[in-house]
Amino acid sequence: MRKRIVLCVLFAALLLTGCGKSKEEPGDAKLVLGFSQIGSESAWRIGNTKDIEEQAEAYGIGLMLENANQKQENQIAAIRRFIAYQVDVIAFSPVVEEGWDNVLKEAKDAGIPVILVDRDINTEQEGLTTCLIGADFYKEGVMAAEYLIRKADRLGLEQVNIVEITGTENSTPMRQRQAGFMDTIAADSRMCVLESIDGDFLKSRGEECMRYYLEKYGDTIDVVFSHNDEMTIGALPEIENAGLAPGKDIIIISIDGGQEAINVLKEGKINCVVECTPKLGRELMETALKLKNGEQVETVIHPKEQVFSDEIDVSQIGPRGY
Ligand code: AHR
Repeated sequence: MRKRIVLCVLFAALLLTGCGKSKEEPGDAKLVLGFSQIGSESAWRIGNTKDIEEQAEAYGIGLMLENANQKQENQIAAIRRFIAYQVDVIAFSPVVEEGWDNVLKEAKDAGIPVILVDRDINTEQEGLTTCLIGADFYKEGVMAAEYLIRKADRLGLEQVNIVEITGTENSTPMRQRQAGFMDTIAADSRMCVLESIDGDFLKSRGEECMRYYLEKYGDTIDVVFSHNDEMTIGALPEIENAGLAPGKDIIIISIDGGQEAINVLKEGKINCVVECTPKLGRELMETALKLKNGEQVETVIHPKEQVFSDEIDVSQIGPRGY
């Protein structure tokens, strides 16, 4: 316990002063990992942070964790502090894909390997990062669309009017979930996307987007495709306030699979939730240790994910843990 307090105090002092690494490694840590988290925008994100903290402790890895409150500039500043401290490995979940080249070049010049967690970046430069540990977002979009096609078949629908509430613009999950979904429905002439709006992965934006859609399209909406549970949970009361029954009058498709959404799926107000697991911590620690030891790592590591929907016995879905 005393050791953990010393470690926290040491990290806090280093973060405040931004000074170089002491000769002594903090505690018994096998390595020091600097991790810049995007923020706390969703139950998914909070679960992801918790998992990374727990796994760092389990692996005896010293974790310097910084929360960027959804701002890219905060993430860039955090990565610069990790470089100044000379951590062994840097990991971060990029809030958007563009604009990382300069800071990653600095990490490369300092000889510190960088792991992308959850989301990807867009860069022309080779070798700025070592690997990506995160979901196959394109496949998630495909699975959401495949569910919808099966549901439309079962209901015998001839036209399917879809509204989309997307995640943060220019983020990997937003781009890839949308692409997977649109590519999959493209060949089905029944499918008609009325509009897509940026909901920024936030519950409050889910509410706003749904209110706007209901005012504009009313009961002609057949489907809401929402890029995360948070926005879905925000949208549902708006549908009910408009006198419609989510899950019956409007097909609701969500992504993440957090406990709250699964409870609502069990109530029948969500029809389908595509899983996106936040439990990336174990893979992150394993990969960081390999990099520290100079071992090769896989360039892309996708966790296995599944679909929870009204096609299965939802009473059998166990506790989600996030
Ligand atoms: O990048 C993963 C996405 O970010 C999750 O779907 C969402 O809930 C989170 O905020």
